[in-house]
Amino acid sequence: MLFTHNLKKIDAGTQKDIYEHPSETDKIIKIMKSEHATPDGGRAGQHKLRAHRSQGIYRQFRRELLQYLQLCKSHYGALKFTFPIETVYGFVATDQGLGLVTERVNSPSGRAFSVYDLVKEGLFTDRHAAALDQFFDECCDMHVVFGEVNIAGIMYTEQRQEKPEFVLVDGIGEKLIIPFRSMSKTINTRNIRKVERHIKSQIPFYQATDV
Ligand SMILES: Nc1ncnc2c1ncn2[C@@H]1O[C@H](COP(=O)(O)OP(=O)(O)O)[C@@H](O)[C@H]1O
Ligand SMILES: [Mg+2]
Repeated sequence: MLFTHNLKKIDAGTQKDIYEHPSETDKIIKIMKSEHATPDGGRAGQHKLRAHRSQGIYRQFRRELLQYLQLCKSHYGALKFTFPIETVYGFVATDQGLGLVTERVNSPSGRAFSVYDLVKEGLFTDRHAAALDQFFDECCDMHVVFGEVNIAGIMYTEQRQEKPEFVLVDGIGEKLIIPFRSMSKTINTRNIRKVERHIKSQIPFYQATDV
């Protein structure tokens, strides 16, 4: 079992702590913050019936894993394992619960840069705009289902496939109880385009060029 006090924490969101993998530099470990969990693995602060649904504290892992498997399934014949979402490598036991091991998405500088970071630092250019268009187009084509996608969860890289690209690392997978987005590519595409408009509305680059 890994002890988190021996790991380097590199980031955190509202739900998860993100650690460096102890031996593989191209991977990270995602751990659900224990303060959000009940001792029996439910989600703290939610009604009993809801808190334990869909593997409780692990339900985000579940959604992401199912989405990753679904993409591997639909690209089975092509032996494709890399998609516009972070690659999932598996699980690891830690003293803070099960950790999800995924690829580490790095920008050309070696830092992790999200759309939010690029915007905040004034670094978003037409190079990124082209990659972002391609990201949303690919997500539609491949039927990638978005749960709750925000601008801090879309990361930029050029090393992953030797080209500028964005990769989704958070909010991956179906979250509707009746899985309309997984069931219908048309419904899913409509949702992705809606998210795309919302994300772009938060990027000054588009406001400047859309006149
Ligand atoms: N695969 C990844 N590669 C690089 N950085 C990541 C990766 N996944 C997450 N991060 C960084 O950690 C932050 C928090 O991770 P995230 O999965 O979004 O957790 P939360 O669900 O708590 O928001 C992200 O906004 C991002 O900056
Ligand atoms: Mg996040």
